[in-house]
Amino acid sequence: MKPKVLITRKIFDEALKILNGKVTYTMGPDNRSLTSEELCEKIKDKEGLFCLLTDKIDRNLIDAAPGLKVIANCAVGYDNIDVPYALKKGITVTNTPGILTETTADLTWALLLATARRIPGADRFCRMKHFKGWKLDLFLGQEVTGKQLGIIGMGRIGRAVAGRARAFLMDVVYSDPHRLPQEEEASLGAVRVPLDYLLSDSDFVTVHADLNSSTRHLISREKIKLMKKSSILINVSRGPIVDEKALTDALEGKKIWAAGLDVFEREPEIEEKLHHLDNVVLLPHIGSATFATRIKMAVMAARNLVQVLEGKTPDNPVHPD
Ligand code: GLV
Repeated sequence: MKPKVLITRKIFDEALKILNGKVTYTMGPDNRSLTSEELCEKIKDKEGLFCLLTDKIDRNLIDAAPGLKVIANCAVGYDNIDVPYALKKGITVTNTPGILTETTADLTWALLLATARRIPGADRFCRMKHFKGWKLDLFLGQEVTGKQLGIIGMGRIGRAVAGRARAFLMDVVYSDPHRLPQEEEASLGAVRVPLDYLLSDSDFVTVHADLNSSTRHLISREKIKLMKKSSILINVSRGPIVDEKALTDALEGKKIWAAGLDVFEREPEIEEKLHHLDNVVLLPHIGSATFATRIKMAVMAARNLVQVLEGKTPDNPVHPD
């Protein structure tokens, strides 16, 4: 008998092809996530789980599936899963690292430039037919080239963002628990500095850390106070790393110049006031959203799932620190 698998929401045919003939799957709907109750009910008799970052895979769910062997997350981040508990129960957890690095770094730069140069507001202005002629001070933004970029979290995505900063002749500083090898620092032109220095000295601060107990609210009200009035904060990692209420207050009080956010503390909810502020650009968690990358992620997750169910070591097991 083929192992039974739950796919929590509709996925691409390219990924289903990997599963066809090897597992028997049940797939969730296209238009919404399954509720916790539905997940617990549907997982009961399954050996494999293909899930998304919007699915909360907690103890309750893990306990509901005594035969579960693998949780294949279709994302690089895995803060949606209680990984220590899954591992304790002998369940393998996998993720999709590497393939979304460049795509997410591209989106970071799109958001940084859109925020610095006020692109969404300027676009709305034209659509509203408010453009009545060139003006010396129309939609003034912040200079990017030659400024200082502070990167919080110098993993794969942080490094890819740093690489692109070279084209903008920027000074790059970074904060990370681990120092990069010297050759890599030299090739990226990046200097490791304490977090407080990074926040108080950078023109742009971009967050690329994992979400865990030491990074939750890392960018707290106190840390935001260290930032320059002219500075811009970009977050393309996980919402809870930034205190969204404190950030909203800082944007409203013009304590920092702007923010570009692809992620939110209580996704899909967004702090109400942010909808009404002109100095923030809001995106619906689309860091890795290109056709090619999202298909590659789903294929990678499907492959990991099948590998574990076939008794093999998966390509991308999660080993938390
Ligand atoms: C996206 O946010 C991911 O973790 O893959």
